[in-house]
Amino acid sequence: MEVIIQETANSGCLLGAKIIAKKIREKPDAVLGLATGRTPEKLYRELVRMHQEDGLDFSRVTTFNLDEYVGLPPENYQSYRYFMNKHLFRHVNIDIANTHVPAGNASDLHAECRDYEKRINDVGGIDIQLLGLGRNGHIGFNEPTGSLRSRTWIKILSQQTLEDNAAVFGDSDSIPKHAVTMGIGTIMEARQILLLAFGPAKVRAVVEMIEGPLAAICPGSALQEHPRSTLVLDELSSSGLQYLDHYRWIESNKLPWQRHD
Ligand code: F6R
Repeated sequence: MEVIIQETANSGCLLGAKIIAKKIREKPDAVLGLATGRTPEKLYRELVRMHQEDGLDFSRVTTFNLDEYVGLPPENYQSYRYFMNKHLFRHVNIDIANTHVPAGNASDLHAECRDYEKRINDVGGIDIQLLGLGRNGHIGFNEPTGSLRSRTWIKILSQQTLEDNAAVFGDSDSIPKHAVTMGIGTIMEARQILLLAFGPAKVRAVVEMIEGPLAAICPGSALQEHPRSTLVLDELSSSGLQYLDHYRWIESNKLPWQRHD
């Protein structure tokens, strides 16, 4: 795992946007795996700026989002499809037909999950998958103790995730308790992983993900087995790590082509 510690969440998001933009410039028909939540909002804002000011071209890009709440139609303002349209898709020159978010309101959710996996395979897999990290270590909506080899499926959200989402939804009664999510097995097949985790609430999950054992109790720890993962942290989220000096040493001794900035 490549562990990069930035001073703030803001600089972490700018670096994350740079990594994704580089992928799009190298491969204009790149397939991006995307995440929602508070963490990547500034990253999307920066991609929009790069499109508007630097001509970053999304016309041949395809995207697959990690997850969607069960039961919410795309036009519901609490849905992840709505979030993506609002924060990214509407502001760049992407073909909306090439943007995929699981249909949480599909009449046959099992068929939707199988079809989502097929759609990812049909375009040749995901080039770079953006992830956030739950306070309990979840990636996508793969909650603790779920299989580290799971595929896209319907998952039950943990109580802690529901509490965290209440802050966003504002009304705990309206928060869906189920979601369709790419599985950890699906996520692990992405050719590159870019995970962002910022702020004091993520300290424990960051320690377990990076320095803990590979264990289903911390789904993010599965990334220890990924051949190409970059984890971007800030001073706060990285403050519990035991081997901080090691990560900083590696960062300051990278060869020019190993650097992202
Ligand atoms: C979102 C997702 C989740 C979030 C995680 C962190 O699509 O799959 O795993 O990335 O819950 O959420 P925030 O960024 O709101 O702290």
